[in-house]
Amino acid sequence: MVAPGQSGCGPDKQNRSHDAIEIGYDGFRYLPEVRLLNKRVFRERRIINRFDHDPLLFLTAHCNGQLAGFKIGYAVSRSIFYSAKSATDPQFRKRGVAMRLLEAMVEEITRMGFRELRFDAFPAHHPGMLVIGLRYGFRIRRLIWDDKMSDFRIQLSMKLPR
Ligand SMILES: CC(C)(COP(=O)(O)OP(=O)(O)OC[C@H]1O[C@@H](n2cnc3c(N)ncnc32)[C@H](O)[C@@H]1OP(=O)(O)O)[C@@H](O)C(=O)NCCC(=O)NCCS
Repeated sequence: MVAPGQSGCGPDKQNRSHDAIEIGYDGFRYLPEVRLLNKRVFRERRIINRFDHDPLLFLTAHCNGQLAGFKIGYAVSRSIFYSAKSATDPQFRKRGVAMRLLEAMVEEITRMGFRELRFDAFPAHHPGMLVIGLRYGFRIRRLIWDDKMSDFRIQLSMKLPR
């Protein structure tokens, strides 16, 4: 796992720590803003198929009171957690928002007792999360051609610290 880089809301890489990214653990509180961001980034109304997973983790990142990003995941078994969707508002990209959300999810699900985190990446559509995942220490599990997406589905996985 790589050490987290300097992250913060401001555009100036050297002074980012002054404008901390605020991580929230109750994304439902910001559902209308998340819906708008989801629609802008993915051009679809659906955020994920269903919200009634147990447990489900719905994280948000705020910069100076404004929604900067979100990340949603849920348990697929007693030991495996799946990160289903994440996005950063284009105006807050490359400031460490996605990395902070990933760190927060890893921290929280490790605390909950999960042993592994997985996610899927579609490299032709959204290459960023694949780069972040590999840099963070995820390994590629499988590569499957996805007809519906007209893209490869790259399944990534990372063992969590005990
Ligand atoms: C992928 C995404 C979430 C990244 O968000 P972000 O907040 O800009 O990412 P971060 O700033 O935390 O990036 C962390 C590192 O990854 C790198 N990175 C981020 N996006 C990248 C991209 N598209 N290509 C290559 N590297 C990228 C950054 O340069 C950064 O490295 P640095 O700290 O050395 O500069 C964002 O681009 C996005 O919302 N994309 C569209 C939706 C998407 O792909 N969602 C994920 C799949 S569901």
